Amino acid sequence: MSKRTVIAMSINFRRIRKCRCVQLLTTGLVLCMLMVCWEDLDHHVVSHMRSYSYRYLINRYDFLNSTLTISSNHRGREDGTSSARDSLQSYRYLINHPGKCRGGPRKDRDDVLLLLFVKSSPENFKRRQAIRKTWGNESFAWSELGVSVRLLFAMGIHPDVSQRFQMQDALWQEDQAYRDLIQQNFLDTFHNLTAKLIMQFHWNQMYCPQARFLMTADDDIFVHMPNLVKYLQHALRSQSGAKDLWVGHIHKGAPPVRRKNSKYYVPYDLYPWPSYPDYTAGAGYVVSEDVATKIYQATLVLNSSLYIDDVFMGMCAKAMGLSPQEHVYFSGEGKAPYHSCIYDHMITSHGHTTDVHSLWREAISSTASGNSRGFLRNMYCTAMRVIILCRPYFQNTYSCAAAFT
Ligand SMILES: *[C@@H]1O[C@H](CO)[C@@H](O)[C@H](O)[C@H]1NC(C)=O
Ligand SMILES: *[C@@H]1O[C@H](CO)[C@@H](O)[C@H](O)[C@H]1NC(C)=O
Ligand SMILES: *[C@@H]1O[C@H](CO)[C@@H](O)[C@H](O)[C@H]1NC(C)=O
Ligand SMILES: *[C@@H]1O[C@H](CO)[C@@H](O)[C@H](O)[C@H]1NC(C)=O
Repeated sequence: MSKRTVIAMSINFRRIRKCRCVQLLTTGLVLCMLMVCWEDLDHHVVSHMRSYSYRYLINRYDFLNSTLTISSNHRGREDGTSSARDSLQSYRYLINHPGKCRGGPRKDRDDVLLLLFVKSSPENFKRRQAIRKTWGNESFAWSELGVSVRLLFAMGIHPDVSQRFQMQDALWQEDQAYRDLIQQNFLDTFHNLTAKLIMQFHWNQMYCPQARFLMTADDDIFVHMPNLVKYLQHALRSQSGAKDLWVGHIHKGAPPVRRKNSKYYVPYDLYPWPSYPDYTAGAGYVVSEDVATKIYQATLVLNSSLYIDDVFMGMCAKAMGLSPQEHVYFSGEGKAPYHSCIYDHMITSHGHTTDVHSLWREAISSTASGNSRGFLRNMYCTAMRVIILCRPYFQNTYSCAAAFT
């Protein structure tokens, strides 16, 4: 070996070492940064990763429904355990309208397009008023959209005994005026939401099985009724004829919350697995007639002690072999951005109590002018939606994909 090659080699080695050093340093730096951020990342990311992989198992196999099924010797027995059948027997109606789906503008029994349940609470009178005057207005749906919508507010009794009687009086008066409340004899609390859900599906089965679609919604959401009706009519005309439809904003592989101080805390003995089956956010989702019947059947055999109503609905659906469909313009949490290009497509938006009226005016006027939409307007709106919805690091109500519909 000549002296020159030796020198050349040692230079090469030095270069390699230098590269390694830089590599090591950057790796170290990145790790350090990660460690600093880990505190925040840790819980969220790890639990989501775990639940997301588990989601596959939950959605694919049926161990979930078999472990949650009430053994047949328990069913309907008056032993204090919570099965839906027990609650069906024990919670009686205090306010009811069995004839709600009969008659109507056309005196036609079979024409209900949408049975609309709004989950309300006795004290939320103002919210109900706002809904009646805006997106829940049955006459508007009939005269302007040409379809029959039936609106019912579902609730229990006021949990505070000292206010209950006065509240109940007010409710009876309200119901005299509007005839759109249904109420069962359970405490209207967060942990009784599943009882409210069961009430809706049982009411549908009992009094309005002919409704083509059933929607369940919170009383603080906004529903763009013209867009929703258009969507449902389109579904009815489609090939499948609106069978198997369960649509909303989907929570995929959501992990149960195990922090005891959380509102959504669920102990292991109530739900032992690290992931819920896919389900639609309870803020607002729609099911077709056949799905509503299947959910009803599931509520008869599943243990209903899981008190988060939309998760329980997901478990019922899972047990019946149903899976949800994502619609980019159903919102989970969060308000729709205020823009006419969004109003063209939006279906639901969450968190509205004071601005329902202004949104409704926008919805009606954009529907009225929506027919004159041309190529340029479409281009403009797609661009606007990309700007509004596709900002990085900004969690939007609707996903970026919604910009391109
Ligand atoms: C409901 O809509 C009808 C028809 O558009 C309208 O005449 C009526 O005033 C509305 N009702 C309320 C309470 O706003
Ligand atoms: C649900 O309602 C029932 C009947 O009123 C009541 O006994 C029970 O305590 C309520 N559960 C919760 C968690 O509020
Ligand atoms: C339902 O599940 C709860 C919690 O796991 C349990 O305590 C209860 O006994 C079950 N009820 C029935 C009827 O199986
Ligand atoms: C579980 O779900 C499957 C469909 O996914 C269904 O065929 C089966 O009957 C269900 N099992 C029970 C015990 O409900």
